[in-house]
Amino acid sequence: MAGLGKVSVVGAGNIGGTLAQRLAEEDLAEELMLLDIVEGLPQGKALDIQESAPVVGFSTRVRGSTDLKDVAGSDLVVLTAGLARKPGMSRSDLLGKNAQIVQGHAEAIRDHAPHAVVVVVTNPVDVMAYWVRKVTGFPRARVLAESGTLDSARFRWFVADALGLAPRDVVGFTLGTHGDTMVPILSHCSVNGVPVSRLLSPEKLAAIVERTKKGGGEIVDLLKTGSAYYAPAAAQAEMVSAVARNEHRLLSCSVLLEGEYGYRDLFLSVPVTVGRAGVEKIHEVTLTPEERAALDLSARAVSEDLRLLSALPPH
Ligand code: LAC
Repeated sequence: MAGLGKVSVVGAGNIGGTLAQRLAEEDLAEELMLLDIVEGLPQGKALDIQESAPVVGFSTRVRGSTDLKDVAGSDLVVLTAGLARKPGMSRSDLLGKNAQIVQGHAEAIRDHAPHAVVVVVTNPVDVMAYWVRKVTGFPRARVLAESGTLDSARFRWFVADALGLAPRDVVGFTLGTHGDTMVPILSHCSVNGVPVSRLLSPEKLAAIVERTKKGGGEIVDLLKTGSAYYAPAAAQAEMVSAVARNEHRLLSCSVLLEGEYGYRDLFLSVPVTVGRAGVEKIHEVTLTPEERAALDLSARAVSEDLRLLSALPPH
C-alpha cells in the first residue's frame, strides 16, 4: 500500500535511477517523479522502471520530467543531482559546482513543494543540506541528509564480514560528517546486543573504523568513473521508507544542530527518530572521550566547508 501521495527524485543518474527503482518496488508512493536536466533520461528510466511493474507487482505510477516545476505537490523530495567524485577528489572538491546546482533545485522545491520533506544526497552532503535549508527556509525537521545511514551500512557490513555473521544482526552507527572525519561509534556497536569489543580484537576494530571512513573512496577507486550507488540508494530508501510509513526509525542522519552535542548552525549526522514529519527527535547519546574528540574534528571539517560555501560568489 502506498505510504505517500507523491515522491520526487531529482537527478536521474546512477543514484537517482537506482533509488527510483527501489522506491517503486517498495510501493512507497502513489506517484514517483524522476527529474533530470538531460532530455529523455528521466522519461526513459521512469518508463523502464514502470514497465517492470507487472512483473514486480508494484502500483506506483512512475513518471519522468525535465521540468523542475514537476516537483509540485511532492510530499517528499530526494535531491541527488550534482557532480560525483572521480578518483583523487574529495567530496569537498565538489562544493562550488554542486552548490549552484542545488540552489536551483532548492528554489523549485520551496516554490512548488512547500510542504515537502527533503532528503539531501548531493555531496558534500552536510554542506548541501545546510544550503537547501537556507534557500528553502524549511523548518529543520523537514531537511535531512543521508550520510550516517550510508556510512553506518558500510560499518555494519565490515563488522558482519569480519565475524561471518548475518549483516542484519549487526547494530551500529556512524556520527559526524560524510567525509574522512566521520566517526564510526564502536562503543554502541553490537551483534544483537553483544558488544563488538567482546567479539573482535582492538586491531581488527581499528581496521574496520579506518575502512568505513574511506568506504566511499574505496568504491570510487574501483569504479574509476564515478562513485557508489547501490548502497547509497539503499540507505536513502531506508530514510524515505521511515517517512512514508511513519516508522519512527532511529537512524543516523545529518540534521541541523541547534545546540545538540554542543554544536550550532551546522549539519552533522547524529541519531534521530524519523517519521512522517521528518526528524521527530534528536537523540544525544553518551560517547567515549575519544569518540567525542573525533566528533569535534568532524564538526570542524564541516565548519570549514561552510566557510568555503559562504565565501562563494553570490549565485
Ligand atoms: C559515497 C558517496 C555517495 O560515500 O558519497 O559513496
